[in-house]
Amino acid sequence: MDVQSVTAAYQRYAPFYDVVFGPVFEPGRRHLIEALDCRPGEAVLEVGVGTGLSLPHYPAHARVTGIDLSPHMLERARSRVRRHHLGNVSLHAMDAQALPFADASFDKIAALYVASVVPDPAAMMHELRRVCRPGGEVLVVNHFSRADGWAHAIERRLAPLGRLLGFRPDFPLERFLDAAGMTLADARPVNLFGYWTLLRFQKPAQDERGGGRDDPAVGDQ
Ligand SMILES: C[S@@+](CC[C@H](N)C(=O)[O-])C[C@H]1O[C@@H](n2cnc3c(N)ncnc32)[C@H](O)[C@@H]1O
Repeated sequence: MDVQSVTAAYQRYAPFYDVVFGPVFEPGRRHLIEALDCRPGEAVLEVGVGTGLSLPHYPAHARVTGIDLSPHMLERARSRVRRHHLGNVSLHAMDAQALPFADASFDKIAALYVASVVPDPAAMMHELRRVCRPGGEVLVVNHFSRADGWAHAIERRLAPLGRLLGFRPDFPLERFLDAAGMTLADARPVNLFGYWTLLRFQKPAQDERGGGRDDPAVGDQ
């Protein structure tokens, strides 16, 4: 996986993304936003916002910043913001692995179905931890690969097609947790067959890790 293959894959997906991935991923979006429990005035960052399917679910009192690598996905998110009159949302073309925001800029952060897409998940999680305020939360919904069984067999077979598919079918939870560098406060299954997981990370009120890059790499395999 690299930035070019991700951008190319989501240029292909953009015209039909909402039809194929809209309803099937919808419970995870709703669960995550409910779990964020946004308070009035809180600043929320959503990385990999895509076509903005989650955006109408945020309460109007939250200030939401959505970012994505793909201009084609973002174009659709922008039309959704206009259609739904979402005055509390701003959208930007950015790489979640290198965010231009200052440390501790956001109260809460959402990453929906992007962890196994981003070329370097450890770099993304480092950035999310950095821009989250001490005591804030980072919530992630993603598919994580199984250790055995029929799903594991399919994931192994699909693994070499990651660049073409635009996501990593073979994406173990344990390695992602190592890379996250934050306390995992909760994990629960979401979506069809509980095949996806909602993870809630808490950034300590005193961030002892600072901004240093000391995580094992997860991506690019
Ligand atoms: C599977 S889609 C998820 C879209 C949306 N979050 C949803 O709920 O449907 C993954 C999105 O992550 C974006 N993405 C991948 N790598 C990224 C990166 N490094 N920085 C920002 N966005 C990225 C892709 O462009 C794509 O829009």
